[in-house]
Amino acid sequence: MEPAAFFDTLVAWQRRHGRHHLPWQGTRDPYRVWLSEIMLQQTQVATVLPYYQRFLQRFPHLSALAQAETDEVLAHWSGLGYYSRARHLHACARRLVQQGGYWPGTAAELQRLPGIGASTAAAIAAFCFGERVSILDGNAQRLLARLLAFEGDLAHAPAKRVLWQRAQALLDPQASADRMAAYTQGLMDLGAQICTRSRPRCPECPAAALCQGLAQQRVAELPQKSRR
Ligand code: ADE
Repeated sequence: MEPAAFFDTLVAWQRRHGRHHLPWQGTRDPYRVWLSEIMLQQTQVATVLPYYQRFLQRFPHLSALAQAETDEVLAHWSGLGYYSRARHLHACARRLVQQGGYWPGTAAELQRLPGIGASTAAAIAAFCFGERVSILDGNAQRLLARLLAFEGDLAHAPAKRVLWQRAQALLDPQASADRMAAYTQGLMDLGAQICTRSRPRCPECPAAALCQGLAQQRVAELPQKSRR
């Protein structure tokens, strides 16, 4: 694959066909992006939308969230499930405010905060700071395993690390912050709209010509499932 061929293709596709009107888009405010990414970790977009708006109305910024009682934060999470997310969110807000109210500007530092795993850290860093770092959530793993005809078993950490390194190699090292944000959203959008788990829409995929899984007729069997 030409260097940056997939990157350029995905950025162009995202700009034309991706999602642009979600309420956490069009902002580089780490508070808003962080909140959306935490809510979206285990919950679908349509479910998150009203919660996100209500949460922001009550807790419009980091210090409002840090000052709140845990019970009130949990009450605003009620119905979203996975309540440890809300507890970590609150702990994270308190820690950041305690440390001066600043957001760390890199994925490596963001990852040390409560509730922020590697992929969420990368999403915040790419969307808010334009850092050249790849997300690797479940959708991105599936999409990249197909694109690269990746053989490893993603239930195993070493294989995941190798895939992440290969994902990093797909980034344009010269990419602007705007293009890095479009690329990151493009991975999410392509995974949600085209490179779906079952019945991927390969004929509509902007990256079909670059897809090694498709060339080898192995899209259906990738990513490899772990044998038990
Ligand atoms: N899932 C996780 N992050 C997302 C985002 N920023 N937009 C849409 N779906 C997502």
